[in-house]
Amino acid sequence: MNAPVLDTRAHVALSTEPDLFKTVSSHWPSGVAVVTTTADDGSLHGLTMSAVIALSLDPMQFLISVDRKSNTLPVLKATRRFCINFLSKEQRNVCMTFASKAEDKFASVGYRLSKMGLPVIDGSMSCINCDVNSIIPSGDHEIMIGDVRDIEHFGGEPLIHFKRTFHTTVSA
Ligand SMILES: Cc1cc2nc3c(=O)[nH]c(=O)nc-3n(C[C@H](O)[C@H](O)[C@H](O)COP(=O)(O)O)c2cc1C
Repeated sequence: MNAPVLDTRAHVALSTEPDLFKTVSSHWPSGVAVVTTTADDGSLHGLTMSAVIALSLDPMQFLISVDRKSNTLPVLKATRRFCINFLSKEQRNVCMTFASKAEDKFASVGYRLSKMGLPVIDGSMSCINCDVNSIIPSGDHEIMIGDVRDIEHFGGEPLIHFKRTFHTTVSA
């Protein structure tokens, strides 16, 4: 006879405070990227992001998760294409510029347009151009899944965000 299954749920004090959520999230190190796009009127847009994930190899897809409060989100949804600029350790200023709400974030950075016409920021380690395949609303963010169309790799060392400060790589 099977042993009775004990329901332990009532005995477990689950903790789900937002502050604890933020503390745990900040202890998970991530690279930093600037996701850019070009609107139909030619204006350039972008924001700093760490929620950038290599999702699938076959087909090649990247996932980005954008806050609903982002001014760039409606532009990304309209253009349905984006370029992920993977920042290098020298690009802390670029990170802070694109984490702001500045009107013209591109005024203070060097860039060129990719084959897809999307901004590639000077000094980035690499960039990946994507067409948006699907958009999944989730909580206070919208997840965008991009089909990879073009990849460029320039090299360098990544900018790392950990415990709300910036770091560079050191071998363990
Ligand atoms: C290190 C770092 C990582 C960030 N990651 C994200 C992210 O993954 N998704 C997001 O929506 N915002 C992220 N942000 C916040 C945006 O960059 C910030 O809200 C920015 O002002 C949005 O600009 P926009 O409103 O012009 O789009 C991050 C900021 C920093 C500094």
